[in-house]
Amino acid sequence: MLRKKILITSALPYANGPLHFGHLAGAYLPGDCYARFMRMMGHDVLYICGSDEHGVAITLSAELAGRSPKEHVDLFHGINLAFFQKMGFSFDHYGRTTWEGHVKTTQSFYEALKAKGHIEAKVENHLYSEQEKKFLADRYVVGTCPKCGFEGARGDECQKCAASYEAVDLKNPRSRLTGSSLVLRPSEHLYLRFDHFKEALFEWIKAKKWKENVVHFAMSYIQDLKMRAITRDSDWGIPVPGYPGKVFYVWFDAPIGYVSITQELAERQGKPDFWKEYWLDPKTELVHFIGKDNIPFHAVFFPAMLMGQDLPYKLPDQIPANEFFLLEGRQFSKSDGWYIDLEDFFSKYTPDQARYAIAANAPETADSEFSWKDFQMRCNTELLGKFGNFVHRVHVFAKQTCGGVIPKLGPLDVDDTRFLESMALLVDQLEIAYSSFHLRKATQLIMELAQLGNVYFDSKKPWQLAKIADQRQKLDTVIHLCMKCIQYLALGSMPVIPGTSQKIWQKLGFSSDLAKLSWREVRAQELPENQKLPEPEIVFRKIEDEEIQNQIKKLEKTMTEKEISAPVATAIQYEPLKNLISFEDFEKLDLRVVEVLQAERVPKSKKLLKLLVDLGSEKRTIVSGIALSYEPEKLIGKKVLIVANLQPATIMGIESRGMVLAAHQESSLELPMLQTLSAGSVVS
Ligand code: 2FM
Ligand code: ZN
Repeated sequence: MLRKKILITSALPYANGPLHFGHLAGAYLPGDCYARFMRMMGHDVLYICGSDEHGVAITLSAELAGRSPKEHVDLFHGINLAFFQKMGFSFDHYGRTTWEGHVKTTQSFYEALKAKGHIEAKVENHLYSEQEKKFLADRYVVGTCPKCGFEGARGDECQKCAASYEAVDLKNPRSRLTGSSLVLRPSEHLYLRFDHFKEALFEWIKAKKWKENVVHFAMSYIQDLKMRAITRDSDWGIPVPGYPGKVFYVWFDAPIGYVSITQELAERQGKPDFWKEYWLDPKTELVHFIGKDNIPFHAVFFPAMLMGQDLPYKLPDQIPANEFFLLEGRQFSKSDGWYIDLEDFFSKYTPDQARYAIAANAPETADSEFSWKDFQMRCNTELLGKFGNFVHRVHVFAKQTCGGVIPKLGPLDVDDTRFLESMALLVDQLEIAYSSFHLRKATQLIMELAQLGNVYFDSKKPWQLAKIADQRQKLDTVIHLCMKCIQYLALGSMPVIPGTSQKIWQKLGFSSDLAKLSWREVRAQELPENQKLPEPEIVFRKIEDEEIQNQIKKLEKTMTEKEISAPVATAIQYEPLKNLISFEDFEKLDLRVVEVLQAERVPKSKKLLKLLVDLGSEKRTIVSGIALSYEPEKLIGKKVLIVANLQPATIMGIESRGMVLAAHQESSLELPMLQTLSAGSVVS
């Protein structure tokens, strides 16, 4: 067999928040299963991933969280790495784009592109905040989408119609943080002439046998390929040589991270040139696992950057892009309370249960979802009912009736031969499924294999054979062949559920690390007769209905959580004045003037707005029931009154820290506004 060099990458996740199962299903679990399978097939695999730690999304979130960008990425790099470890990921290296070597590599990519005439400096108008005295990069800007007219559109792409544009194309642009309106000012930026690569990209993609959606996206991007700015005004990122105050756009430096993370690994191994054996060898097979939103960057922009280098970089051979993975039909969102608490999850279930349920529903051709009921079914009916029970019953039987060892294989009858042939066919199919990125199919085949074993065991009725003295040889053969099935199950399930597969491998009496063995050798290996079997053990536990109902209830509660809102009267009512209070009681209230920095509707609520307000000394989130009276955009920059020391409350999954004061009459509300005071002014 030809030993291939396979360089596998999974999209570098932003170190900007905790990862969840939704992320895993697209770019990560399929990548890990592929890497595990290809290693066992004897290929020389290098699996690279790491944190994407630059970009305005990170500086913005860090600022909102009151952390420095460095503190922010350190925190989430640690959290995400621990999550990957918990889930059994087999990266050869999980690096970071803040590694110092990444600076040199990114800058050298730029220098090479520049030397070949692919970089152009252009003075163009950019959005400038006179109030903040700086240019604002796309994510710091909101405005009206030039395509669909959505008023709260982000500076780089519209979250409503998915149009992507430059921030200057927005109508009515405003600062996302202060709400102040922005003006156009000339500033010099560097542009990469992607249009220079149009022909070469076209010819290259034309010959690729990629998934239809990837080719389609890539080709349509190429049709209108323009130069794009690759610099930003910021001090967080890779500095642009000769341009103080400017850094590279995150999508310029992030994919170069794949290269620099390989370089870091090479350095750590004391073989600094080792990375070249992968990136510069035309025989390397480069496979990028990504989510569909990353297609243009991996199929067009990064390949163009690679084409424009002096060194003969490998271009991707495969880009298995997956669709999105939802939670019970909606996007995972921790801030909306629509998420799975991973600490709670792992206190009850195993990483392999999660890996299997995600793989079985992998979003290969359309968006798919994690649902609790499906999870229960996958665990109870498939992992436990078909797979776990088969392994266990065979093991217990061998312990009790075959002297606790792998019994001898005797002469085969027609059923035995057919059983062996059917198993071999399923293993063949598994090999095809793993090699061609069909993870869902692989999980189905694993279950078919387990079911085949169950049917064979039942049809041979070994418990009856055990009662007849001269059927010993037949009985031994049946149990031996069932153990053969366990051997194939361990092998075939290794890429998806490595922990369980290793366990059942050991239950056959082996002490080797299955993941490190050769697929073909394990497949061809005769089971050693008389090998001693360890004690049987249950590999999956049953998930009770009640547990699942509780999980579903938790999510339902988020959906229906009572909307708190300022009371709305239906008719003018003169309510009796409230009882008198003492001055001490009044003094307990902390009333403040705050400035509204951001305002957005709370999804699934008519009345609620989520506000980010500035108290001068700090920023806070407050949920307020004023959406029927105020458009969120109108509130930005307004100074309103709040009770600052009201106990925090969680409303629709959002922690609200304070209450906005509003006057009301019938169903309309009015906020007192104090525009001339500064944020934080005390009202007493
Ligand atoms: O979409 C994302 O999460 C990006 N951080 C992916 C980057 S992939 C690569 F280019 F680094
Ligand atoms: Zn739009």
